Amino acid sequence: MEDLESWVALVADPESARFIGGVQPPYGAWRSLVAMAGSWSLMGYGMFSVIEKDSGVWIGRVGPWQPVGWPGPEVGWGIRRSAWGKGYAREAAAASLDWVFGALGWERVVHVIHPDNARSRALAGRLGSRKIGPARLPPPFAGEPAELWGQDAAEWTARRDL
Ligand SMILES: CC(C)(COP(=O)(O)OP(=O)(O)OC[C@H]1O[C@@H](n2cnc3c(N)ncnc32)[C@H](O)[C@@H]1OP(=O)(O)O)[C@@H](O)C(=O)NCCC(=O)NCCS
Repeated sequence: MEDLESWVALVADPESARFIGGVQPPYGAWRSLVAMAGSWSLMGYGMFSVIEKDSGVWIGRVGPWQPVGWPGPEVGWGIRRSAWGKGYAREAAAASLDWVFGALGWERVVHVIHPDNARSRALAGRLGSRKIGPARLPPPFAGEPAELWGQDAAEWTARRDL
């Protein structure tokens, strides 16, 4: 629960929240945080908290989740705007890919990305993921524009071994 205050700040910022459900009040932030903790508890995985080593501050959440009806097992990312442009998202996403392919044994991973989310598309590309096609999302997101990006375990392992 010590992450709640920073989680509230992440989803209160219009630019950070634009593609992750829009601006939410503290109540919405609380729901998301406990849902993520619930994913760890019930599914055995969930997104990790990303803590900046120098400051000890929670700067976001990155990692696996797969909501019901989702178009695949996802590694997703959301970082506070103050920490963008430093490579933190990439570092956390790469560690997450190592973990889902290694510890969880996933064979593939997807990223659901809004076509206008240039930073997220760029990050997916830097990780070696490619655009697979349009994403089919479950209600209440059905009909919203979304791209499906991803790669499989063999592709990630080959890149890691370079
Ligand atoms: C999507 C998101 C995670 C991308 O974050 P990001 O900081 O751009 O991504 P990276 O960690 O890969 O950082 C890349 C940038 O860090 C820079 N950088 C600085 N030091 C670096 C280092 N040591 N290593 C790597 N990159 C570094 C890169 O040059 C690049 O800068 P640029 O964007 O100015 O070209 C972030 O914009 C975000 O959280 N958005 C809001 C939530 C959201 O939309 N989530 C996605 C839903 S699909």
